[in-house]
Amino acid sequence: MARTPFIAGNWKMHKTVAEAEDHIQAFLPRVYSADGVDVAICVPYTDLQAMVDSTRGSRVEVFAQNMHEAPHGAFTGEISAPMLSEIDVHGVVLGHSERRQYFNETDKALSQKMVTAFDAGLKPILCVGETEEERERGDTERKLRHQVQEGLERLTPEQIAAVTVAYEPIWAIGTGRVATPEQAQEAIAFVRALIEDKAPAAAPLARVLYGGSVTPDNAPELLALPDVDGALVGGASLDPENLARIVDAAAQLVAAAAS
Ligand code: 13P
Repeated sequence: MARTPFIAGNWKMHKTVAEAEDHIQAFLPRVYSADGVDVAICVPYTDLQAMVDSTRGSRVEVFAQNMHEAPHGAFTGEISAPMLSEIDVHGVVLGHSERRQYFNETDKALSQKMVTAFDAGLKPILCVGETEEERERGDTERKLRHQVQEGLERLTPEQIAAVTVAYEPIWAIGTGRVATPEQAQEAIAFVRALIEDKAPAAAPLARVLYGGSVTPDNAPELLALPDVDGALVGGASLDPENLARIVDAAAQLVAAAAS
């Protein structure tokens, strides 16, 4: 694997602080020796501080699931990038399809959010992916091109090198219908080519993850695909043992590549 694999669990709107503490206390010892794998949990705002405190000194980073594009302002109910970095949050998921679908997140706001995240020292995970209808119409590449170009539009080559893009086909999210290895590899290689168009030197460094019905059973095959640098895991990440088994799958590939 050319890049350090990255396994991120997106809890979505799950877990109170007490539930989050139970999860992390079971999870941390399980991933203690997963050398060569970057690991993150993407948690609700109310869990951030507790998870930052509980994971300090471990390999597990803590990400938020969204933020506003402005650093401050009259935006009732919103959270800014400086508010996240102040409490030592490491990164943020941006443009998840659920935010695009249910909360009218636009590509325009996202291109600003990417800049704002970097300005605050946060690592963004930019989510992209097509609907089932778009795939059936043959519009997958057009959708991905638009989303990736808008998301990266205002970044410097150095920032693009530090970006993580998560390819999450919407029809695979929460459905149990995981993309086939061919579909995942093809779309992710296309995303990497789009990154290369924008910043040739950065493309080999930027990470591209697969997300959508990843489980401990299908992770080994998906993670072994040449252009796949890790996984953004939803449902399976709610169980610490399942998330740890997906991290194990990545660690085993790293160990096999080194031997
Ligand atoms: P599932 O793993 O539940 O399909 O969710 C994927 C996802 O949306 C991660 O961000």
